[in-house]
Amino acid sequence: MNRYRTHHCNELRKSDIGETAMLAGWVHVLRDHGGVIFIDLRDREGLTQVVFRPEENAELTAEAHHLRHEDVIQVEGKVSARVPGTENPKLPTGDIELVPNTLKILNRADVLPFPLDAEAPNEDLRLSYRYFDLRRPQLARNLRVRHRVTKATRDFLDEKGFIEIETPILSKSTPEGARDFLVPSRLTKGKFYALPQAPQQYKQLLMVGGLEKYFQIAKCFRDEDLRSDRQPEFTQIDIEASFVEPDDIFVLVEGLLAAVFRASRGLEIPIPFPRLTYTQAMDEFGSDKPDRRFAMPLTDLADVFRESSFKMFRGALDAGGAVKAINAKGFAELTIGQSDELTAMAKQYGAKGLAFIKVENGEWKSPIVKFFSEAEKQALRSKLLVEEGDLILFAADKWEVVCEVLGRLRSRIAEMQKLTAGSEQLDFLWVTDFPLMAFSAEENKWNAVHHPFTRPKDEDIAKFEAQKFGEVRAEAYDVVLNGVELGGGSIRIHEPELQAKIFAALGVSEEDQQTLFGHILRAFRLGAPPHGGIAFGLDRIVMLICGEETIREVMAFPKNNRGIDLMSLSPSAVDARQLRELGIKLAIEKESG
Ligand code: AMO
Ligand code: AMP
Repeated sequence: MNRYRTHHCNELRKSDIGETAMLAGWVHVLRDHGGVIFIDLRDREGLTQVVFRPEENAELTAEAHHLRHEDVIQVEGKVSARVPGTENPKLPTGDIELVPNTLKILNRADVLPFPLDAEAPNEDLRLSYRYFDLRRPQLARNLRVRHRVTKATRDFLDEKGFIEIETPILSKSTPEGARDFLVPSRLTKGKFYALPQAPQQYKQLLMVGGLEKYFQIAKCFRDEDLRSDRQPEFTQIDIEASFVEPDDIFVLVEGLLAAVFRASRGLEIPIPFPRLTYTQAMDEFGSDKPDRRFAMPLTDLADVFRESSFKMFRGALDAGGAVKAINAKGFAELTIGQSDELTAMAKQYGAKGLAFIKVENGEWKSPIVKFFSEAEKQALRSKLLVEEGDLILFAADKWEVVCEVLGRLRSRIAEMQKLTAGSEQLDFLWVTDFPLMAFSAEENKWNAVHHPFTRPKDEDIAKFEAQKFGEVRAEAYDVVLNGVELGGGSIRIHEPELQAKIFAALGVSEEDQQTLFGHILRAFRLGAPPHGGIAFGLDRIVMLICGEETIREVMAFPKNNRGIDLMSLSPSAVDARQLRELGIKLAIEKESG
C-alpha cells in the first residue's frame, strides 16, 4: 500500500460513502465557516472537499485552523455524504466530502507569489515562479495534451515503420537561416560547436546511411527575435524518408495529424487537406500561410483600371505591377487609431500609401473616389460586393508588394474585427511550389527560401541552368493550420553536382563549400538515395490544440520574449576561471551589479 494515499483527489464518489480513505495533496482553497474548516484538497487529478468540524473533532479542527494555502497535507478519514443541498454538481467528487480523523502536515508553504485560484497575473511574475505557476490546472492540462501529442506521434510513425534516432546537439555552425547559438570548445580552444537549428543535415546523412525512415522529437535552437510562436529553443517533429515523392509525405503527414488530433482532442479532421500553390496563396490571400476561416479575398482590379485616368493605379499597371483591393465588411467605422495603424503597416511592408474608401450613408468617402469613372465604380461595386458599412482598401504597386501589404492588412483587420473569435473551425491546407530562391537587395545576393538542400522542381531545372533564379520553383511544401505555419519540408537534392551548383548560386564559394558542407557533398558521392521530409513545430501544434495564444503556454519552462529564463535568471555571467579554460576573453566589460 502507498504510504501517502489510498485514492487521488478526483476518485471518491457516492459509492465510497462510509469507506475509509487517505488523501494527500495541496490546500487549494481554505474556508472558515463559523469554526468549521472547509478545504479543497488538490492533487494532479482534481479536488476533494475535506471538512473539519469542531463538534466532531475539536483538536484536529484547531490544528486545521493553522493551515495555509498550498500547504502539503495528508488526511485520513471517512468518506461522507455532503449535507443535502450543498452538493457541487460541477465537481466529479461533489457529492462527498472527507471527514478526517488524522491530519499530517507534510510541508508548509510560505507567502504565495500570487493566488492560484484567481486570474493569472502578469506573465513575467508567472515565469519567475514557473514551478508554482505549473500548479494552475490549465498549464497542467496543456502539458498532458502535449504528452498525448508526442505519444500519438511516436505510435503512428512507429506503426508506419519509422524509427526514432537521436542526433547531436553539439553540432557545426553552417549558414542555414537563423543565427546559431555557439558553444565554445575547451578541448579545441578557439573553436565552437553550434546548437542545431534543426537536424536537417543529420537526417539527410541518415538517409545516405540507408536508414530510410527516420523521425525524431527533436530540440532545435535558433537565435532569432522572439514572438508569440517563436522560442529560442523549441521542439520539432522531424521526419525524413528515402525513395519518396511529395505525395508520399502529404499522405503520411495527413495521417499523422489525424492521429494526433484524434488522440489529443477526440476530433476527426477532414483529410486530405486542400492544396494551394504559393502563387495562388499570395495572389488570393497575400500570405504563404493564409487563414481561410474568414473570406476577405484579395480582389484583382487590373481589368478595372487598365485604361483608368487615375494615375496612381494606371501607373502601377503600366509598369507591369498590380492593383488589388480587399473589402473589410462592416469596418467603415474603424477608429482613427486603427486607420493610422493600418496605414503605418502598409508603409512598413513597402506600400507608398494606403488608399481606402469608407461606405457610409450610401456615400463613398475617400479622397480618391473623385478620380473614378462611373464604369469603374460600377465594376468595383460588383467585384468587391460593396455594401453600406464596408471599408475598401487598395494597393497599387509591384505584384509582390501589393499581395504582401494587403495580406498583412487582411490578417490585422481580422484581428481587429475578431473574425475568428470563438471559432472551432480547423482550416488545414498545404501550400506547395514555393520559390527556390529569393533575391536579397540588402545583401545583393540570392538566398534559399527554405534551405540550401531543397530540390528545384524538375521542370524548372532548365530555368535554373539559365540563371533565371527568380522563376525557379522548389519541390517544397508547408502545412498551415488557421493561419499558422505548422510545418514545412521538401524533397532534397541528392546529386552532388546539383548541390554544388545550388551552393554556388547562393554565393557559397568553392572553398566554403568544402569547409562548411564538405561532409554533405562527400556523402552524396557515395550513393545518396532520393529523399525528402518535413518538420513540424510541436509547440505550435499543441498551442493550437489547446487554444492558446502563445507557445509559452505549452512549454514547461519557456524563456520570456527577451530570451531570458526569469526563474533561474539565465543567461548569466560565468566566472573568470571558466572563461580562461575556454580561452575566451570578453570584449564587453561585465555589467556591474
Ligand atoms: P523550418 O525552419 O520551417 O524547417 O521549421 C519547421 C517548423 O518548426 C517550427 N518552428 C518554430 N517553432 C517555435 N519556435 C521557433 N523559433 C521556430 N522556428 C521554426 C515551425 C516550422 O514550420 N529542417 C527544416 C524542415 C525540413 O525541411 O524537413 C526546418 O527546420 O512550426
Ligand atoms: P496621394 O495622391 O499621394 O495623396 O495619395 C492619395 C491616397 O492614395 C492616399 O490615401 C495615399 O496614402 C494613397 N496611396 C498612395 N500611393 C499608393 C499606392 N501605391 N497604393 C495604394 N494607395 C496609395
